[in-house]
Amino acid sequence: MKSRIEKTLRLGTDEADIRRAGEIIRDGGLVAFPTETVYGLGADALNELAVKSVYEAKGRPSDNPMIVHISKMEELDAIVRDVDDLSLMLMKELWPGPITFVLHKRDVVPDATSGSLDTLGVRMPSNDIARALIAAAERPIAAPSANLSGRPSPTTSEDVLEDMDGRIDAVIEGALSDIGIESTVLDCTGDIPTILRPGYITAETIKEITGIEVAYDKSLLCRPKEELNPSDGAAEIEDFKPKSPGMKYKHYSPKAKVQIVMGDIEKCRREAEEKGIKTAVLDYGEDSKEAARNFFADLRKLDRAEVELIFVRALDEEGLGFSIMNRMLKSAGYDVIK
Ligand code: TXA
Ligand code: MG
Repeated sequence: MKSRIEKTLRLGTDEADIRRAGEIIRDGGLVAFPTETVYGLGADALNELAVKSVYEAKGRPSDNPMIVHISKMEELDAIVRDVDDLSLMLMKELWPGPITFVLHKRDVVPDATSGSLDTLGVRMPSNDIARALIAAAERPIAAPSANLSGRPSPTTSEDVLEDMDGRIDAVIEGALSDIGIESTVLDCTGDIPTILRPGYITAETIKEITGIEVAYDKSLLCRPKEELNPSDGAAEIEDFKPKSPGMKYKHYSPKAKVQIVMGDIEKCRREAEEKGIKTAVLDYGEDSKEAARNFFADLRKLDRAEVELIFVRALDEEGLGFSIMNRMLKSAGYDVIK
């Protein structure tokens, strides 16, 4: 990380602090900030050096594109062109909110921001602090989740500091991220509108608004070989070539080993504890909103408690459950117990 960073400034959410945070972004610095999904690590999206320092601070591979955040519809045209009708219709209904659209990038946006793709993921967050920061910075803000690469995404400012203290210029200490998993990423630039990353906004919601059935990127249906059901179109993990570059990396991993359980989770716990393994169970019942809000935060809490093995009860993969199971399976490296 840049040597000029000596200490990470803790900022509040009042006007003066947001203005200060905006200045830091304009000067090419890095500011972590709350959004409704997870905390983001923000940099001036149009400043190549600033964006490069985000990759450095996170230890993130540089072909993994960033999501660019705007605060008003009028800011869209400066960074992308030829927005398709379906994306536009969904933006009108769902922005500000937890959905990112993949659009055709304009040349002013550096390759560093888009991971050298000619498309750009853009989102307008509903969190007021996030939008106030973008407005104060007077430019679009590139922001991946504010965690070290590979770790669970942060949903509190404490979780941000756990990974990033001393590596970034400032953090805005806002409230807990209410949704708790990252935005849905929708790509309408190809022949078939496709969800590249499932999130709070589901395919069902998109169909209700537009009448259109969107596809899922094939990589989202990847399952271990022994679980493949030839009729459901799922691919093997070995064929895992996701369209969304970020999806190929190790993700959401706590220090503890994670296993997803589809059967008797208490039995799993008993057997592990009998072997002297420090074990915990995460069971959210069928409350998918609770699961989304707490899953990443719970993984971090269990790491702090030095738990060695975490059993997570599988959710029904309907609606939001599908999005959460995507995160759960990744955090477990697709290790599932039936
Ligand atoms: O909820 C969120 O989206 C959070 C908050 C901070 O807004 N941000 C976030 O960013 O999750 P990040 O960097 O952790 O995830 C960005 C992912 C990439 O890894 C990639 O999978 C996808 O979004 N993505 C971004 N731009 C893309 C593009 N042009 N084409 C395909 N996928 C893209
Ligand atoms: Mg992330």
